[in-house]
Amino acid sequence: MAKLNIGIIGAGMVAQKHIESLHMLKQSRVSWLADLDTKLLESVLKKYGIPNGTNHYHKILEDPNVKAVYICTPPSTHFEIFTACLLAGKHIMLEKPASISEEELRGMLTLAEQYPEQVILSASCRHSRLQPKFHFVKKIIDSGVLGEIYYIHHNAVLRQSRPGIEYHPQAKWFLDKSIAGGGPVLDWGLYDLSFHLGILSDTPDLVCVNSITKAQLDRKDPGTDIFDVEEHAVSMLEFNNGLRFYWERGTHANVDVPNETRIYGTEGGLKFAYLSWDPNEVKYYYTGREGAGKAKSKTFKVNMKKHVNDDYAINEHFLDIVLNGAKPAMPLSLEAKHLRIVFEIYGASKLTV
Ligand SMILES: NC(=O)c1ccc[n+]([C@@H]2O[C@H](COP(=O)([O-])OP(=O)(O)OC[C@H]3O[C@@H](n4cnc5c(N)ncnc54)[C@H](O)[C@@H]3O)[C@@H](O)[C@H]2O)c1
Repeated sequence: MAKLNIGIIGAGMVAQKHIESLHMLKQSRVSWLADLDTKLLESVLKKYGIPNGTNHYHKILEDPNVKAVYICTPPSTHFEIFTACLLAGKHIMLEKPASISEEELRGMLTLAEQYPEQVILSASCRHSRLQPKFHFVKKIIDSGVLGEIYYIHHNAVLRQSRPGIEYHPQAKWFLDKSIAGGGPVLDWGLYDLSFHLGILSDTPDLVCVNSITKAQLDRKDPGTDIFDVEEHAVSMLEFNNGLRFYWERGTHANVDVPNETRIYGTEGGLKFAYLSWDPNEVKYYYTGREGAGKAKSKTFKVNMKKHVNDDYAINEHFLDIVLNGAKPAMPLSLEAKHLRIVFEIYGASKLTV
């Protein structure tokens, strides 16, 4: 069978993770790579044996053999590149966040509606919906044993773990809001929302937000003049079904809290850490004899053996959509719902330094 020709725009960290997974999957061929940085471009072309390279991504779009394009550039460039890719008739893997403003997002959604035949996969399903823990937890919720879910509590706060400083230090754009769009509540938050709203079948809609975002809690030299994204965000979200969702995300704060989700239902509850590399345990709390007996709990172990890793899973999923017509786990319209929650959080909280 002929391999799917893929072009990748951006040759940085995430692009290389995709290339490695695509090489493992074998149903595709990375035939083009674009980056503005010639030195990086040449080294990545050589490292992975990619035949064609360019500083001008439009060259990729002109090649009729390229059927799909991965957009792996910083967020502020996504709108322009996404538009060009759609108009060129390519299927798209779009790195998260899809956009950094409501205006651009609306433009992208309008355009996507005009090209329904072209696949668009938003990459915020990467750490959330394509791994066994998501399906395990969703199955428990769907079975109804937890009763009505009235409260979700999720926190994940690291210390000095900021992209652009401690993680991927050469990518300083992560610290610049005009390029990145925001800090951890956008960067990691899309995965958090994708997981926690997905296990509720995407039914709750946001009603209101109360939040605080804080920046520059650590004043170590970031190595750049622009550092205006938040480091820590705390939000209480209210949804139209009465659900309250306490959500705390940070790449630096003066207390660390492990990644933990607690789900409170009227008949039972769950506690777990949702990421695929966290422990594979899901603790289930319930009360015997229809809620009138002794308080009990049991711990399930989710089988993660078949999950290679999240990057492999998202590439496997993308090829399945393009080659076999599978349904995208994260269409742009759904990422838009999550992005709008983040935009509401930024709107509701004045960034305080
Ligand atoms: N780094 C990660 O772990 C990670 C993980 C998941 C998703 N992402 C997302 O992937 C995207 C890229 O992140 P990254 O960490 O790979 O960044 P990066 O800085 O390592 O790579 C981005 C590359 O894009 C290039 N570029 C910028 N504008 C371009 C243009 N117009 N044409 C061609 N190349 C251009 C830059 O020169 C740079 O080499 C972001 O949206 C990010 O949020 C990153």
